[in-house]
Amino acid sequence: MKKVIGLFLIMILAAGLLAGCGETKDANAGEKKTLVMATSADYAPFEYIESDKSDEIIGFDVDLAKAIAGKLGYKVEVKDMDFGGLVQSLKSGQADFVLAGMTPTEKRKKNVDFSDIYYTAQHMVISKKDSGIATVEDLEGKTVGVQLGSIQEGKADEINETVAIKVENRNRIPELIQELKAGRFDAVIIEDTVAKGYLDKEADLSSFTVSDDPEEAGSAIAFPKDSELTDKFNKELQKMKDNGELQELIVKWFGGEN
Ligand code: ARG
Repeated sequence: MKKVIGLFLIMILAAGLLAGCGETKDANAGEKKTLVMATSADYAPFEYIESDKSDEIIGFDVDLAKAIAGKLGYKVEVKDMDFGGLVQSLKSGQADFVLAGMTPTEKRKKNVDFSDIYYTAQHMVISKKDSGIATVEDLEGKTVGVQLGSIQEGKADEINETVAIKVENRNRIPELIQELKAGRFDAVIIEDTVAKGYLDKEADLSSFTVSDDPEEAGSAIAFPKDSELTDKFNKELQKMKDNGELQELIVKWFGGEN
């Protein structure tokens, strides 16, 4: 009888050990942890939905997030929201990072941390060809649409200090284009790369750039203040800049240099 109990104990011990082994193995090579990326999927080719094909959010930023997170052993879940709510999503812990063509402004830096810039941009003013709007001065007395909470909104306010305009905001970029086409806006300000997509599709639109330092309007990854991810992501981003992987993504989504 003692023998049987002894054997039983050994079996229990062995089972426990095996289970223990399994656990450590899982922690190393098993299920990947998921990071939540918040974005505003109204911004082709950075992040958008090709609604006729699927409801998946795709784009340059999504690929970049998956590449960097993948190297660090994470999976990515993409959460869509209005651009104006992104910084708050980091503050409230709803998201681990934001990739949304977001510019690292001094104001935002008070609330979140940023990676280095991964893509540069310029402001573009779009209007209908027949509007005759070709310079900032031509905007005098006009209604200018911008995305709520964007640096383009800031740019419009800045223009308004010298050329009197009526600044209107909307949550989503496609809404801006709709209002422009419907004649409720005379012009909209959107970053050049995103504007180009609309200019290619809509023959009756024209544009001009309002020059600023391209770095000033560029995009970076945002994190909650003091997140451990900031440094890790930044290092991987730098590697991707050095080894050409970032350039590959740029060619894939923007089709060109920068
Ligand atoms: N770069 C601009 C900013 O940071 C606009 C970004 C808009 N992004 C978007 N996904 N709608 O304010």
